Amino acid sequence: MDKKYGIQIIGTGAYLPEKIVTNADLEKIVDTTDEWITQRTGIRERRIVEKGTAASDLAEKAARKAIEDANADPQEIDLIIIATSTPDMFFPSTACVLQRKLGIKNNSVCFDIFAACSGFLYALGIAKNMMESGQYRSCLIVGAEALSYVTNWKDRGTCVLFGDGAGAMLIKRVEGETNVLSVLLGANGAHTGILEIPAGGSRYPTTHETLDQGLNCIRMDGKEVFKHAVITMLKAAKKALELSNKKLEDLALLIPHQANMRIIEAMGERLNLPKEKIFVNLHKYGNISAATTIVALDEARKQGIVKTGDYVELVAFGAGLTWGAAVIRL
Ligand code: ACO
Repeated sequence: MDKKYGIQIIGTGAYLPEKIVTNADLEKIVDTTDEWITQRTGIRERRIVEKGTAASDLAEKAARKAIEDANADPQEIDLIIIATSTPDMFFPSTACVLQRKLGIKNNSVCFDIFAACSGFLYALGIAKNMMESGQYRSCLIVGAEALSYVTNWKDRGTCVLFGDGAGAMLIKRVEGETNVLSVLLGANGAHTGILEIPAGGSRYPTTHETLDQGLNCIRMDGKEVFKHAVITMLKAAKKALELSNKKLEDLALLIPHQANMRIIEAMGERLNLPKEKIFVNLHKYGNISAATTIVALDEARKQGIVKTGDYVELVAFGAGLTWGAAVIRL
């Protein structure tokens, strides 16, 4: 049977933990100032989970909102992909845990994606291919992060940057045109060392020494990451637009990865995009890695900044180095 399938985004949801940690709060634990953090990053506060909350707890809350938004039956979801760098555990996958929590009993395919801040776009690209092949009908994609557990709260260079949260998207297969027009993904493993959590895996299994040295937490050469972020996101955004046969003027909104206001502004200037066409929420949440773009898309939809039929581009960049960009029609 020769059918052409497309996919449609039918629901989104987000969940941010209630606990707010402001820059002033951080002044009390590391040698920093609200002024430094605001000027260098644009971040004013971030959400942090209470002890005991795991990525799947955040994912469940975001997923339930996306399912409700779509007015969908969870039992029809036959593919669950979670993008996270902070899974509940190494195995089973956090996606399997989420399937159980949502009470989905249809043997849906479940797996996690490890692509740091680009994870949600990697998940979207994989979902697009798996669904447009005709094999799956309904996919739940989640970006969920509990980064506060892998943050070194003694390192002022990184602890001011990250936050916790989750976003979810429900996609359904349709016959005919697709609303995920293009997904461009890439990686360059030559720079794995500039942004990493060195210990806790099989290279440096957790020991008292790795814990004492802070090697189980995020380490970053911020300046290097910054340099790559601007150039790479710019290229990815342009390429994904080209692949979608759309122009910058067609976009109702650009949603860049929310890591640093200066990266976002540099991108905006080089693309010559007016400020009102670039979505920003990092002042409230900081960098929530794989959850950033989907949390932002959900906010933009719920705030009425974008509406059905609008073209939106998402672009992200992260450890790996990895990157991704997607042009979607809502
Ligand atoms: N408060 C006060 N001073 C600080 C702080 C802080 N929180 N952090 C660093 N400093 C100091 C440094 O020690 C340094 O002091 P020195 O000159 O005496 O040595 C000075 O400020 C400048 O530090 P830089 O690191 O050069 O500051 P920079 O302007 O590069 O900003 C930042 C640092 C915000 C981290 C920036 O480089 C950045 O945002 N990089 C990109 C991060 C990113 O995009 N990550 C995305 C991917 S994340 C993922 O994939 C999980």
